[in-house]
Amino acid sequence: MTELIYARKNPAVIETLLKRRSASAKAMGGDCPPETDIKTMLEAAMRVPDHGKLNPWWFIVFKGDDRAAFGEIIKTAWAAREPQSTPEKLADEAKRLMRAPLVIAVISAPRESTVPVWEQQLSAGAACYNLCLAANALGYGANWLTEWYAFDPAIRASLKLQSTESVAGFIYIGTPEKAPEERPRPAPETLRNDDFRNATNRGNEYAKQGLGYVTHGPDNSVYKSK
Ligand SMILES: Cc1cc2nc3c(=O)[nH]c(=O)nc-3n(C[C@H](O)[C@H](O)[C@H](O)COP(=O)(O)O)c2cc1C
Repeated sequence: MTELIYARKNPAVIETLLKRRSASAKAMGGDCPPETDIKTMLEAAMRVPDHGKLNPWWFIVFKGDDRAAFGEIIKTAWAAREPQSTPEKLADEAKRLMRAPLVIAVISAPRESTVPVWEQQLSAGAACYNLCLAANALGYGANWLTEWYAFDPAIRASLKLQSTESVAGFIYIGTPEKAPEERPRPAPETLRNDDFRNATNRGNEYAKQGLGYVTHGPDNSVYKSK
């Protein structure tokens, strides 16, 4: 029988969730986690809510020389986008994955099903987050990034992604070298509604700060390069 772990008080998990931080990929080092830890992280990533038991995700593990090999592909893709790039910029692009000893790409792969694609994509997002939390619980820092190359057609082709598949994230995992600076979080009351008939608390304060709603539909192909 399944252990009723979900109905047991677990203050350590609450503390983890309330204090969770990403580690910066720019300040990550250490050795690559051992295979046992990688397996545990992937097992946690695959234990996410998944409507219809579709497993609408798969994973690519980058470690060792593969990070530099994929970096060369990133560099070539960047050079095609920005032919005027300096050699220094190209060298930086080639080193993207070298920032951490382990990078795991989570690929959203919606299956043919009555379950909406959107729900399947959300499951891939949950897989990314479980991967981060599992990495943290095993003593590593994690950083969920997409950056420009997650969306680039040449990069997508190099990973042989189908048109319906997307990179949900490159999860950079390693030993954090410094603590991140605190970052403001919303006060729960600014986004909480207790009256469904009049749910006006929609982050209006944030809209005033320039965080308006998008006026167009989501378009995953649009992402500013940096
Ligand atoms: C789907 C997704 C993609 C992201 N891509 C990037 C990225 O390309 N660059 C970046 O600086 N942060 C990115 N982030 C944000 C970081 O993962 C992280 O949340 C942020 O640096 C704030 O740190 P925190 O998680 O400790 O609040 C992304 C987050 C998500 C959910």
